[in-house]
Amino acid sequence: MRQLSEEKILANWNRLMKLIEDTFDEERKDNLLEMYKYFEDRMSVAPASGKAAYHNAMVGGYVDHVLHVTDCALKIKKLWEEDGAKINFTDEELIFAAMHHDLGKVGDLTEDYYIPQDSEWHRKNRGEIFTHNGDLSYMTVTDRAIFLLGQFQIPMSENEYIGLRLTDGLYEEANKSYYMSYNPDWALKSNIAYVLHQADMMATKIEYDEWKRSEEQEDVKVQGRVDNIKKAVTMKETSEQLNKKSKDLFDELFGDK
Ligand SMILES: [Fe+2]
Repeated sequence: MRQLSEEKILANWNRLMKLIEDTFDEERKDNLLEMYKYFEDRMSVAPASGKAAYHNAMVGGYVDHVLHVTDCALKIKKLWEEDGAKINFTDEELIFAAMHHDLGKVGDLTEDYYIPQDSEWHRKNRGEIFTHNGDLSYMTVTDRAIFLLGQFQIPMSENEYIGLRLTDGLYEEANKSYYMSYNPDWALKSNIAYVLHQADMMATKIEYDEWKRSEEQEDVKVQGRVDNIKKAVTMKETSEQLNKKSKDLFDELFGDK
């Protein structure tokens, strides 16, 4: 199973803190740093999903995913811009929305959103590494993100709100009225949501591929071990057979028969 090393988890956390230092300023930066300090112990080890076959269902997977989406968003924005798209949002807005689109996955102020799955059956048959914490009130991940930012008096621009709110694209039923309006006045006024959705999808699919690759490598390793054991057993049989053959030959030559 794909895991992040302690060094990688720490490096990711430091990168996230540097990103805040470099991107934001004044009171918003102070409040963001306060929120991240508050959640540091839980957020730095939180997974990005619960099931192995989803994406980044591992310790430290959340921060890793958020950084990945941020990197992808900046690259995709450049691609859109070079191809003629209107970019009426700032990098700060794009980074803010990318960084917080999954914030609700950290949980509420006291409880984690994902807790380790204790049931061996669910781990083995359903690939559930983590499960949802039943003690939390129901909220969508996006609603909880907005709620948590409000708890730390972290304001957001309209572009940031729309971007963060719509990062899941049409995978989230509630986003339909934003993306599919037949009234031209209600069409999205900025491409930030499309860029973020593409970035989230790209990062998620790549994280899945990385998991799949690690599983395949693990399978190859296991198969290698099985082959070695088989070979050792076969060799043992061969040497036993050889011993028997030489004993038969000895008996045949010098036996009493
Ligand atoms: Fe995401």
